[in-house]
Amino acid sequence: MSLAFHKFHEGPIIRLRWTTQTDLQSRVAVGVGARQHLVECLAQLKVGKRVLLLYPSALAATWGEEIEKLLDQSDYQVSVLQMPDGEIGKSLECLSEIWDTLQLHCLDRTDTIVALGGGALTDLAGFAASTYLRGINLVLLPTTLLAQVDAAIGGKTGINLISGKNLAGTIYTPQAVIVDPAYLSTLPTRDFTSGLAEVIKYALLENTIAGASEYKIGPRRFFDILSESLPNINEEDSVEHIHPLLPGIITSCIKMKLATVAADLREANLRRCLNLGHTLGHALEKVSDYKLAHGEAVAIGLVFATRLAVKKNLIGEEALNRLTTLLEDVSLPLEIPGEYDKQAISQSMLHDKKRAGEKIKLILPKGEIGSVDYSYEIPTSEIAHCL
Ligand SMILES: NC(=O)c1ccc[n+]([C@@H]2O[C@H](COP(=O)([O-])OP(=O)(O)OC[C@H]3O[C@@H](n4cnc5c(N)ncnc54)[C@H](O)[C@@H]3O)[C@@H](O)[C@H]2O)c1
Repeated sequence: MSLAFHKFHEGPIIRLRWTTQTDLQSRVAVGVGARQHLVECLAQLKVGKRVLLLYPSALAATWGEEIEKLLDQSDYQVSVLQMPDGEIGKSLECLSEIWDTLQLHCLDRTDTIVALGGGALTDLAGFAASTYLRGINLVLLPTTLLAQVDAAIGGKTGINLISGKNLAGTIYTPQAVIVDPAYLSTLPTRDFTSGLAEVIKYALLENTIAGASEYKIGPRRFFDILSESLPNINEEDSVEHIHPLLPGIITSCIKMKLATVAADLREANLRRCLNLGHTLGHALEKVSDYKLAHGEAVAIGLVFATRLAVKKNLIGEEALNRLTTLLEDVSLPLEIPGEYDKQAISQSMLHDKKRAGEKIKLILPKGEIGSVDYSYEIPTSEIAHCL
């Protein structure tokens, strides 16, 4: 599928819009205050008058209540369903409850699920929207940094099965994604910092994405912008004072993700590069029994991949130094914590989806910061040694 996307500015809110060849329109609005434009967005989408609003119960007293009030003042008929927080919500039981509620309130294919929350909630809502009546409208309001730059963008949806994480899923494009950095003002520091690992990952991919998609590099490299600005962006920001560079940083990540997905929706080629740092990252999350946050594990994975690239003479030592400095500046870890068994980690890496026989495909930085080789093959026997 080829997607064309262009951007247009309107006040402080940056809007990105892309259209598939089948004329399905999707749009992303990024900006402080963008969430206040939800009703206007629904009107622009010309959707039906029934809305099911989903959010995790943990956000009920804050952002959930705010959005309910906003919708109450509109002429949409709104039903509300609060979901269990985090991974517990990504279950068959919750999915079934959403389907039943949609049916109970007679939502049809012209109507809309509006989902407010982190990546767990947007994954669940996306799965429900894609399967109910073979697809109803979906508008996402991601509230964590990870969801804003990654989970809510690109159309992957999913729930967990007893046998494992994200084992059932679909690819389904939301009609709109409203990204408001003000949501991040209430995010716990650890979740915010964890999301920064994904932001830094995009900086390590910028040239490769630009070389194979419609993404255009700006006057300054994303890595340079991050090196300068991230050390000054912290959790002290409040709804009234969101760091002025944050919306732009989030927008750059979204543009890279959209362009990548547009070039390769089903991860046959370019989209694979988004897994940089994730082969070790996923193994570490698992072996730590999810005590390491996703972004913390990915940060260690980024250092591992870059160190390996230096060892294989794919990239210079300076790149590794710049990466570790940036990660340290934002308090992300660089090394596998001593308490985790390296043998168990390498075993877990070998079960990765990207294994092909006696070799495993890794994404490794190559040439300069911003470029990667996304089909580098390394013999599985070397993995334990590399760790
Ligand atoms: N679909 C994709 O492409 C994709 C990509 C990456 C990750 N994911 C999925 O995303 C999920 C992880 O997402 P996540 O890190 O956002 O976790 P999450 O959704 O579990 O949210 C983390 C915690 O933050 C809380 N929270 C959310 N927004 C808040 C806010 N504004 N203020 C205060 N607290 C807030 C939540 O209630 C939760 O307790 C995983 O299930 C993962 O599989 C999906």
